Amino acid sequence: TPVPVVAIDGPSASGKGTVAARVAEVLAYNYLDSGSLYRLVALAAMRAGVALDEEPRLAALAATLPARFEGGRVWFDADDVTDEIRTEACSAGASKVAVLGAVRAALLGRQRHYRRAPGLVAEGRDMGSVVFPDAAHKVFLTASVESRAERRYKQLMEKGLPATMESLLQDLRDRDARDAARSVAPLLKLPDAVLLDTTSKGVEEAVAFVVDFVRNPA
Ligand code: C5P
Repeated sequence: TPVPVVAIDGPSASGKGTVAARVAEVLAYNYLDSGSLYRLVALAAMRAGVALDEEPRLAALAATLPARFEGGRVWFDADDVTDEIRTEACSAGASKVAVLGAVRAALLGRQRHYRRAPGLVAEGRDMGSVVFPDAAHKVFLTASVESRAERRYKQLMEKGLPATMESLLQDLRDRDARDAARSVAPLLKLPDAVLLDTTSKGVEEAVAFVVDFVRNPA
């Protein structure tokens, strides 16, 4: 039987990263944060001086990413880039390289490689649609744009980084529109995905919902 996959897709700042990592822990499954791969491609491009629209060169960088995930940290060659890939520059860069079909294709095999026993929780935008279309469990995790902006606002405040609700709302709306409108692997709720709206749910409640869905399929 194929290794089971829990595919969790959804928009930016929906809390899906936190929920997915925790679900993987509870189920003792492997975990893939696919967004970090797009962030790493953006980082690799910036380091190599490759413009974010040079598709063939970006695809070559994506195919040879010297990246490792270990103990919750992200490594690029010998550098711990866990924080660097979360900067605004890498976030914006990731969403630009993510529209390129050749980049997405170059990352496909690497993502599927994470599918190892006893199972995988994979999180992103196209886990259920493109990377693991045969996933037994598909979740579309979302929340209102206001609650996502609030969440991000709190995170930035905790880190002492400047932000305004207004600009965060605008940024999320722009990113949602880009993710939904792109021609390759747009973000959408699949007919065979369950909807999990976390607008008024805490992390533990959302985790319990997904774990229950995996253990007791309808
Ligand atoms: O999820 P995260 O915010 O880290 O993703 C960073 C960027 O990578 C997003 O802007 C999104 O457009 C892109 N992405 C994607 N497909 C995925 C995961 C992320 O296009 N499976």
